[in-house]
Amino acid sequence: MRVSVEVRSFLGPGDDSSLADDVLDGLTRPFKELPPKHFYDDIGAQLFDRICELPEYYPTRTERLILAEHSSDIAALTRAAELVELGSGTAAKTRLLLSALADAGTLRRYVPVDVTEGVIRATGAILATEYPGLDVHGIVGDFERHLGHLGPSAGPRIVAMLGGTIGNFTPGARRRFLRDVGRLLGPDGALLIGVDLVKDPARIEAAYNDAAGVTAQFNRNVLQVVNRELRADFEPDEFDHVAFFDRDHEWIEMRLRARRRMTVHVADLALTVTFAMREELRTEISAKFTPRRLAADFAASRLEPIELFTDPDGLFGLALARPVATPRFGAAHRRVSAAAA
Ligand SMILES: C[S@@+](CC[C@H](N)C(=O)[O-])C[C@H]1O[C@@H](n2cnc3c(N)ncnc32)[C@H](O)[C@@H]1O
Repeated sequence: MRVSVEVRSFLGPGDDSSLADDVLDGLTRPFKELPPKHFYDDIGAQLFDRICELPEYYPTRTERLILAEHSSDIAALTRAAELVELGSGTAAKTRLLLSALADAGTLRRYVPVDVTEGVIRATGAILATEYPGLDVHGIVGDFERHLGHLGPSAGPRIVAMLGGTIGNFTPGARRRFLRDVGRLLGPDGALLIGVDLVKDPARIEAAYNDAAGVTAQFNRNVLQVVNRELRADFEPDEFDHVAFFDRDHEWIEMRLRARRRMTVHVADLALTVTFAMREELRTEISAKFTPRRLAADFAASRLEPIELFTDPDGLFGLALARPVATPRFGAAHRRVSAAAA
């Protein structure tokens, strides 16, 4: 059996725009903040997998249901040869899509992109044996900075971002990101994004405040990452996990709230940061969507919707879109001539 796995890493010592910059920038702002990508060291990735199995965390199992129901439709609509997955994690749900594309006879290459190297390597190796003949080209990198390394597609391409990860962007950055991703699709490509839908705030808040405290552990883990990578002395247990639904923005905010006044040193950055008692550090936003918000984002990003697949309770959505066709000179010319006639 031919097994083909190649993994390229664009993170590491030579990567100069990373945790250090984000910590320096984020912890010296008037309202402290860190981007969510730093949650996901190997421990954070394992904690996220545990979150996905929690009874309160409906997004994962709902998105899995939608994929089980509609992957063959997606395969038929896209006839994709290449699946690029941004923030692929363990690709647990992705198998439904890979199998549908394999069954349709179009699949040739899978390109998982994630910041967590161990997960990319392990998942890539498993998938290459599960799908004989599939080329796996893993990219260990930041999907905001390293998508230029994707290279030419193996045929019609789907770029997928599952799990509601798109919700981690603020609205303007989200549209910029979607526009940039749209340029990677090519004329016959498609974008597939999983979005958590606006619903009863109590249901959403419960998903981020699980009774077992796994999300709280996941949230505090970012401080362990900063301690280890930048020789800082955060005391994670001295921060409370806070997660609430912001009704104005329709997004979840996760924060860490200092239990007392604290001074933290980040040795590698020669940085000293103080936290007032109850001061909060924002660690994630997770935007929730309405069909209208999605349509507006697509329109602003030169994408047009093909289909929005949802579950019967309207909890989660899987949106398929394609680039807006650029009129060729001839077509535009004909329209002008017709108007003039
Ligand atoms: C919410 S999890 C979703 C995982 C998986 N796609 C799912 O649906 O269960 C977000 C994933 O995106 C990855 N990630 C977050 N920010 C990233 C970034 N800027 N570049 C690449 N990967 C990122 C994380 O490591 C994690 O695996």
